[in-house]
Amino acid sequence: MTDTAAAWTALEAAAAADGERRIVDLFEAEPDRLKRLTVEAASLSVDLSKQPWSRAGFEAAIALARAGGVEARRDRFFGGDTVNVTETRAALHMALRAPDGAAFEAQGRPVSKSVEGVRAAMKAFVDQVRSGAYKGATGQAFTQVLHIGIGGSDLGPRMVWRALKPLNRRIEVTFVGNVDPSDIAAALAALDPARTLVVVVSKTFTTQETMANAAAAKAWLRGALGEVGDGHLVACSTNLEACAAFGIPAERVFGFEDWVGGRYSTWSSVGLSCAIGLGWEAFEQLHAGAAAMDDHFRRAPLERNAPVLLALAHIYNRNGLGRPVRVVEPYAERLGLLANYLQQLEMESNGKRVTEAGTPVAHATSTAVFGNAGTNDQHAFFQMLHQGTDIIPVDFVAVARSDEGPARQHVILLANAIAQAEALMVGAANAAEPHRHFPGDRPSSFILLDRLTPYALGALIALYEHKVFVEGTLWEIDSFDQWGVELGKTLANKVLAELEGGSAGEHDASTAALIARLKG
Ligand code: F6P
Repeated sequence: MTDTAAAWTALEAAAAADGERRIVDLFEAEPDRLKRLTVEAASLSVDLSKQPWSRAGFEAAIALARAGGVEARRDRFFGGDTVNVTETRAALHMALRAPDGAAFEAQGRPVSKSVEGVRAAMKAFVDQVRSGAYKGATGQAFTQVLHIGIGGSDLGPRMVWRALKPLNRRIEVTFVGNVDPSDIAAALAALDPARTLVVVVSKTFTTQETMANAAAAKAWLRGALGEVGDGHLVACSTNLEACAAFGIPAERVFGFEDWVGGRYSTWSSVGLSCAIGLGWEAFEQLHAGAAAMDDHFRRAPLERNAPVLLALAHIYNRNGLGRPVRVVEPYAERLGLLANYLQQLEMESNGKRVTEAGTPVAHATSTAVFGNAGTNDQHAFFQMLHQGTDIIPVDFVAVARSDEGPARQHVILLANAIAQAEALMVGAANAAEPHRHFPGDRPSSFILLDRLTPYALGALIALYEHKVFVEGTLWEIDSFDQWGVELGKTLANKVLAELEGGSAGEHDASTAALIARLKG
């Protein structure tokens, strides 16, 4: 048996033993538990003491991280090695948020200078749009940005905008992702073409949904402003040729490179709309928080390393205790899209069934993630968390201080977050009335931000990015490809051709009947 296989076996044995204990009892048995399992990193506090691991379980998890080569692969990752093996690419989003003067290399090629070049061009553009110096075709300043993109070209910027927009609302940003025409129709109906900058965001600049929405926006601009309306189009992409073919010249394209994965791209020009809406300083602070988390991840010992410990806690539940679902519940309305964002980050990255080498994985991979903003979900699915037959671990995210709205409501919000985590773990015995019996022993993590600033949000996103990397390392999968999305895309194009009058293809009876019915 290899060292890694032995470490997995030891983790599973430790988790099985811990499954027989109650988490609350572990606090009595381990006086240092809270201190040992709470880590401060890049302004965040991450408390993993309500997770089901005993000291022995925790040590088995750390031993797994060591045997699984987390430190060595982390160094290769930061060193720009080919960690995305199926696409023969580096994955170097850390280079995008590093301060000027960094010396990142992707597969041996220096990249930091060109990153700084794009950043400088973005800053100049952002400042010009915000000051009104960069004007639209009718001579008016831009007051609205329409961000068109999907998946990684949408979820990160959309979440960041919702989280931070109260900080600065000089310019409004609207997001359109869905190919459903009602999405773009509703957005355009609320916008004034003379004052709208359209930012088309697509790494490949071939994505069906984005190209359809971009064409609709272009037609809308032309309809209102004539051909000069094209000047309102800006692109963020790696594909300059396709941008030019669409009618966006190189001087209005903000580029990035193939070592930036879509779901890791908010830090690149993909974040342009947010930078315009929030201002450059906020965008820089978002970068600074993520860079601080990078630094922590790179240097902190495994036992005190927040992304490593969060990954291990999740693996302990997923693999040690067989729990395939997790809730992410931010007690912050402004973080209400965090779970949507993590659905792509975690499930597209780690929803894999074969290893990097193409052999079946030895251990179950990504958990399914869901959640919205607390307290709303307490009145929706939390019943199942407290008394359902499955144990569903929760990541609580809370913000200690806020200046918005009635102060007492923020205290009520925090009280609920704390109480839910406590109730899930402690439960409440009631032998006489079984329907009022709460078994407890349901694990959670508690991540605390001091304030919901760009810096703290950057750190939070980077915490989860690196958590996904650690999990992927231990599961021995490629967290940076997404081949599973391709089959659906190919079949959608075939069905589209048929719906648009092409000859009938080979289909199962159900699919053929649907196509025939919709063709009328
Ligand atoms: O969903 C598949 C995917 O390839 C994602 O990985 C990506 O973020 C998204 O499509 C959008 O791709 P693009 O930025 O190339 O339009």
